[in-house]
Amino acid sequence: MTDNSQDTKQTKSWYNLILHLHPRKVKPATLSFTLTFGLGGMAALLLVIQVFTGLLLKFHYVPSPDGAYNSILDINENLLFGKLAHNIHHWSAVLLLLITFLHMLRVFFTGAYRNPRHATWIIGIFMLILVILSNFTGYLLPWDQLSYWAVTVATSLLQYIPLIGNSIKLTLLGGQEVGSATLSNFFNLHTGFIPLTIIILMCFHFWRIRKAGGVIVSEADKDEPMVDTKPNLIAREFVVAMVLIAFLLVFSILFDAPLRERANPSFSPNPAKAPWYFMGLQELLMHFHPFFAIVVFPITILLASFWLPYVKLNDTNQGIWFISEKGKKAGIYSLASGFFITVLFILLSEYLPDPEVLLPSIPGIITTGFIPFLIVVGTIAWFIKYLNRKFLLNRSELIQSILIILVISYAVLSVTGILFRGEGMKLIWPWEIL
Ligand code: HEM
Ligand code: HEM
Repeated sequence: MTDNSQDTKQTKSWYNLILHLHPRKVKPATLSFTLTFGLGGMAALLLVIQVFTGLLLKFHYVPSPDGAYNSILDINENLLFGKLAHNIHHWSAVLLLLITFLHMLRVFFTGAYRNPRHATWIIGIFMLILVILSNFTGYLLPWDQLSYWAVTVATSLLQYIPLIGNSIKLTLLGGQEVGSATLSNFFNLHTGFIPLTIIILMCFHFWRIRKAGGVIVSEADKDEPMVDTKPNLIAREFVVAMVLIAFLLVFSILFDAPLRERANPSFSPNPAKAPWYFMGLQELLMHFHPFFAIVVFPITILLASFWLPYVKLNDTNQGIWFISEKGKKAGIYSLASGFFITVLFILLSEYLPDPEVLLPSIPGIITTGFIPFLIVVGTIAWFIKYLNRKFLLNRSELIQSILIILVISYAVLSVTGILFRGEGMKLIWPWEIL
């Protein structure tokens, strides 16, 4: 009798814990696929897949410059399903980053970043940073030419952070260059601190969603009676999970994770590029003074994203995509203008004479930093003013237009860096690639 009541108590506390993370009843509107697109759930599942495949790889991986590359070859060639586990770990990491970013955009466009969801948003930003860091620390582990030089390029960007940049670089690398201490640091961060922190934050993230009353719904759907999670939500989550797993499995069978020749610290490939998610920054560095490209732009955007939930807004629309038709139109204008202005900016900066050469007596931080920064900020401000005059937007629609411009600009910069930079990082035209 005592044993039985003990058991029931334990089962109850587990059930209570799950209820803090997953609801028992939900609003019917949250079941609509087009509200969330299942993106948060997909990110959570991909994290579980990363931990699972990562632990399998860890059994065989050797975190030293002499052993790392051979252990990957061994995993790929001699271990039962080793290649599959390696490929899944690689492609799932790429997908996790893309899906987390898309999830952030969905939260933003449905206005779910505001009170009472501001804490969920802030935790989310930390999770996004950690997902980037787990991708970055994992990138070095195969220890091939691609990973070695990508990490060398990306960590060299740190030196442009004034005062503390060099110390951060030294601590992270464990020396002046990427070497055995770096591999060991990255391995420990990658398989210990980072995944553990993401999992803790994820539990906190889910708990905050529950505290806010579940996923956001529109004013019109707010008072509808709740429905049971089982089977309504569970069945949908199951379908999304099965489709994602099937896609990942087929993709990982068809496409191998890239692996070049063993890392050679004395031979740098030309061009040497950062990992794909940092290519936008490397491309920005081609046009701006390093202090502005590596410090001012990223820090401004990071601070703005922390501040976003606290901006006073003059509308009550939440839980719907694009508040109004005029907001949607302004979004399309922003998308097109952001695209063309970024392309134009890249071409002008590439083919116009270098301001540092034209005006050698003025410091570079002014000619290639401060002045172009003011031009970019001024152009965005002017464009937003124009949109406001044309469409009479409310404040959240204006913020939405700015975000669309920033996202499309970063995408254009990234694609240019990844595809259209050849030897010596010279710009190449699409027909020259073919
Ligand atoms: C690995 C990273 C992440 C995981 C696993 C995750 C997971 C989830 C899940 C499962 C939900 C509920 C369902 C859904 O919206 O799909 C959710 C909601 C939410 N997430 Fe995330 N998330 C992550 C990253 C982020 C990021 C980067 C942000 C924003 C910066 C964010 C902000 C939010 C907010 C504000 C909600 C509440 C949305 C609402 O009420 O409609 N999350 N997240
Ligand atoms: C947030 C989750 C994670 C992400 C985004 C991630 C990402 C990555 C990436 C991009 C690579 C390089 C793969 C390649 O191109 O070959 C990698 C390698 C590796 N990761 Fe992870 N990882 C995660 C979690 C983990 C965990 C939890 C472990 C183990 C405890 C782990 C263990 C490893 C090992 C041993 C390698 C080297 C073998 C290989 O390259 O496949 N990872 N990871």
